[in-house]
Amino acid sequence: MGKTLGVKFLKVSLIYFIIGVTMGAIMTIGSIYDFVILSKLFERAHAHINLIGWVSLSIIGFIYLILGNLGKPLYNEKLGNMGYWLINIGICAEFVALLIGGYAQASLFQAGNYVIKMLIVIFAFVMMIGVYFSVYNIYKTLNR
Ligand code: HEM
Repeated sequence: MGKTLGVKFLKVSLIYFIIGVTMGAIMTIGSIYDFVILSKLFERAHAHINLIGWVSLSIIGFIYLILGNLGKPLYNEKLGNMGYWLINIGICAEFVALLIGGYAQASLFQAGNYVIKMLIVIFAFVMMIGVYFSVYNIYKTLNR
């Protein structure tokens, strides 16, 4: 059962990774960037979906997977599943709350250097596509 829970955590962490990098790439675009930096809450939403959603949940997933591979039975299956759902509800609700808070806080637009801004956008999307390819590959492997 530890393995099943581990795979569930790993799969959902991949979704948060996709959301996190997509948000990061979109955040670099000209007027969106100017808007986003007016409120710390957008960055906080991006940072948390990446660091809790992707990084922390994938680590929890690996821990469950390793415990399963070591043949250790789960202490409490219900507790494991409850933890899974509470973390996920918390991450999603917090993300939406931070986006709404950020939108409410940011109200002005700023301008900046065009070439630098274009480079930031191009490489952000290159990273994002790299993540898409890697996540798809891992997801397919997990399902084998
Ligand atoms: C395609 C991938 C990504 C892009 C394009 C991206 C883009 C961005 C942008 C535009 C900002 C705001 C920077 C500013 O204030 O000027 C930011 C902040 C941040 N990003 Fe990302 N990001 C990406 C992936 C990630 C990942 C994978 C993590 C963590 C695992 C992460 C963690 C953070 C954190 C913690 C901040 C806040 C930094 C601060 O408070 O100064 N990002 N990112």
